[in-house]
Amino acid sequence: MRKPGQVFLVGAGPGDPELLTLKAARILAEAQAVVHDRLVSDEVLALAPPLARVIPVGKAPQHHPVPQDRINELLIELALDGLTVVRLKGGDPMIFGRGSEEAAALSAAGIPFEIVPGITAAQGAAAVTGVPLTHRGLASGVRYVTGHCREDLPLDLDWAGLADRETTLVVYMGAAAIGEIAARLMAQGLPAQLPVLAVASVTTLRERRVLTCLEDVAAEVAAQDLAGPVLFLIGNVVSLYRSCPASVMALLATGATEKAVYA
Ligand SMILES: C[S@@+](CC[C@H](N)C(=O)[O-])C[C@H]1O[C@@H](n2cnc3c(N)ncnc32)[C@H](O)[C@@H]1O
Repeated sequence: MRKPGQVFLVGAGPGDPELLTLKAARILAEAQAVVHDRLVSDEVLALAPPLARVIPVGKAPQHHPVPQDRINELLIELALDGLTVVRLKGGDPMIFGRGSEEAAALSAAGIPFEIVPGITAAQGAAAVTGVPLTHRGLASGVRYVTGHCREDLPLDLDWAGLADRETTLVVYMGAAAIGEIAARLMAQGLPAQLPVLAVASVTTLRERRVLTCLEDVAAEVAAQDLAGPVLFLIGNVVSLYRSCPASVMALLATGATEKAVYA
């Protein structure tokens, strides 16, 4: 029997290929098969060898063309064919990335695998906007939460716990439910004027930002018609956005115009 190949569960970061780790770039350059998510940028995919099999298995909200079980099987099949397989995921594979589910499936099938971390969208957003996730006197902690529930069940988050003025809240997958999320947080006592920064396609040329507040976030985001994945930074740290030179410098560096900053 042929020796199985190895699978690498690799974080592709938020979009900018320069935010890949050296290890991720090296492994991607050696891949024989690349199984990738919808959120992996074209710039990162371009780093795969020309002869590698590149297989998209992207999921969009409420639309999963390749079910997770089939993705798990595919990784196992490719490895059993003896290939070096890169399972490439946006951001970090272990943050809302199902990396652990794929790792469990590979482990059960006896396939050797390794996890290579990536820069999660929240860290990418903090770096390019200059809004820190924690800051002395403004936020002593940060929470990453999903704004989308399994099988589209109603959102069931710890609203009382999340409504903490000392903690920065980062909402992934929240574009469809941001109105409900904001209303629930306000109902638990967060101020309507608490600043919110929505960032779409962060660290790519398509990056867009909307600076707003809890009360207005749903209407503003709808009005701006943000394309691509959107991340919400909520909390007092967002008040630093305007005063941080990094926010404008990074935006100009992407080639985007200053008009992309909503005033
Ligand atoms: C399924 S989760 C994957 C998260 C990913 N594993 C990570 O660590 O960033 C998808 C969500 O991540 C966020 N996201 C991922 N990449 C992003 C980007 N470049 N810009 C803004 N948000 C992003 C969005 O909230 C999107 O709906």
